[in-house]
Amino acid sequence: MNIQFQQVYVWSKYLRLFHWINVLAITILLVLGLIIFNAKTLGVSVDGKILLKTIHVITGYGFAANLLVRIVMGFFGQGYERWGKTLPFAKGFTKELTDFKQQPHKAYKGHNPLGKLMVAALLLSMSVQMISGLVIAGTDIYYPPLGQYFAKSIAIDSSKIAVIKPYSKENVDEQAYQAMRKIRKPFITAHVYAFYALLLLIPLHIIGVIIGERREKTALVSSMINGYKYLPKKERSDE
Ligand code: HEM
Repeated sequence: MNIQFQQVYVWSKYLRLFHWINVLAITILLVLGLIIFNAKTLGVSVDGKILLKTIHVITGYGFAANLLVRIVMGFFGQGYERWGKTLPFAKGFTKELTDFKQQPHKAYKGHNPLGKLMVAALLLSMSVQMISGLVIAGTDIYYPPLGQYFAKSIAIDSSKIAVIKPYSKENVDEQAYQAMRKIRKPFITAHVYAFYALLLLIPLHIIGVIIGERREKTALVSSMINGYKYLPKKERSDE
């Protein structure tokens, strides 16, 4: 059978920019996170740890800003930027899944149903990473948005907050410090578990894209670079 293909513009330049900034930020954050996580084993000094955490947090701000823009874009954007077309919560999703099982070579203009589930899992893990990271940036190195608040909460003399530094006990009330560490605990636990989740989800996402490319033959990989997919003229699904 001679199937005719047409070139269809799917991923906007904003969406593609988000995707590649996200890939870059997460790669840097994962590598730095892994080193921080194994700092003791690797023999990293206290100053080294502070430096690693500072670079991790500054990169984290870029990651968080990019993610926030993407979240807003999902509500106010166009076409496949919108959450309604990207997440698995729209009406009829169960039927989409059944169709997907029955027609393994069906070409999708946007994400196939498994792709939508993956977007939801990635979005959840990344949001947990962003929120927990922004809180522990305040408790660990007293960086914004909550650094000033936590520094004040542990200060013996609240007029000398500037002398409160990471890993230093100067002007720090021990009891208040322990209370702050208690607040920190669930956030660092969430940060580590979301990190494990991403370590699992990222390779699965890449494998899913490779399988999707082979099944659907829509030029899925290059579509995230140039925005265009190739869809069969008749069999095409607009989901
Ligand atoms: C995909 C995004 C991210 C990943 C994969 C990631 C991963 C990690 C990992 C594995 C650790 C080591 C945890 C430990 O030592 O117990 C860590 C620590 C840390 N992260 Fe992230 N992170 C991400 C985003 C962020 C963001 C957005 C911020 C804040 C802006 C942030 C702030 C921190 C801080 C302050 C620490 C030090 C905590 C400690 O004392 O260990 N992270 N991160």
